[in-house]
Amino acid sequence: MKLFLDTANFNEIREAANTGILDGVTTNPSLVAKENRPFKDIIKDICAIVKGDVSAEVTATDTEGMLREGRELAKIADNVIVKVPLIKDGLVAVQRFKSEGIRCNVTLCFSPTQALLAAKAGAYIVSPFIGRLDDISQVGMDLIQQIVTIYRNYDFSTQVLVASIRNPVHVADSAMLGADIATMPYGVWTQLIKHPLTDIGLARFLDDWKKVQVK
Ligand code: G3P
Repeated sequence: MKLFLDTANFNEIREAANTGILDGVTTNPSLVAKENRPFKDIIKDICAIVKGDVSAEVTATDTEGMLREGRELAKIADNVIVKVPLIKDGLVAVQRFKSEGIRCNVTLCFSPTQALLAAKAGAYIVSPFIGRLDDISQVGMDLIQQIVTIYRNYDFSTQVLVASIRNPVHVADSAMLGADIATMPYGVWTQLIKHPLTDIGLARFLDDWKKVQVK
C-alpha cells in the first residue's frame, strides 16, 4: 500500500520525504488556504521533492471551469493529479481529462455507488473520506471494504485512496482491506513510526550495552 501525506505544508512534506518511504501527497483547498502562499507555487515546490503522485484540486464546479483549471494544474509537473469533486459535472470532466491524458483523483466520495461511477468515468484514483463518515456515526471503513470488493469484481483499475484518516488504526485497517493508498495528516504519519515498547526496549538495550563496554 502506498503512503501519502495529506498536507500542503512544505516542511511536513520534506520531513516525510526524507524518510524515503513517502509515496505521494494529497492537497485540498482547505489545506492550501492554511499556507498563505500562491497555490501553483505550493504545488510546484511539492512536485520538486516528491516524485510520486501529487493531487491538486480544482475549485470550479462546472465541467468547463474544471477543465480550464485542471489543464493549468497538469502543466505544473508530470506527477500532478487533478482532483475533481464527485458531482455530475466532475464525472463528465474526468472523462474529458482522460481523453487528454490527464489523470484525475475523484474526491469527496461517501458511497459505494459514487465510487462505482468514478471508476466507470475513468478516474485514476477515488478518494473515500472515512473520518468524516465516522464523525456522523457511520463506520467509514465499511465503505472501503465495499469499494475494494466492487472494483475487484469488475477489474476496475481505479486506485482506492483512503482519505480523511484520523489515526494509525485507519491506516492498518486500510492495508488489511487491500486499499491502494492511505493519505494522512503529518501527525498520523509520525504516529505510525512510534511505539512506546520500541523506545523502552531501545533504552534497555543501550543501557545494557554500556555495561558491556565497561567490562
Ligand atoms: O484531503 C481530503 C481528506 O483527507 C480531508 O480529511 O480530516 O478534513 O476530513 P479531513
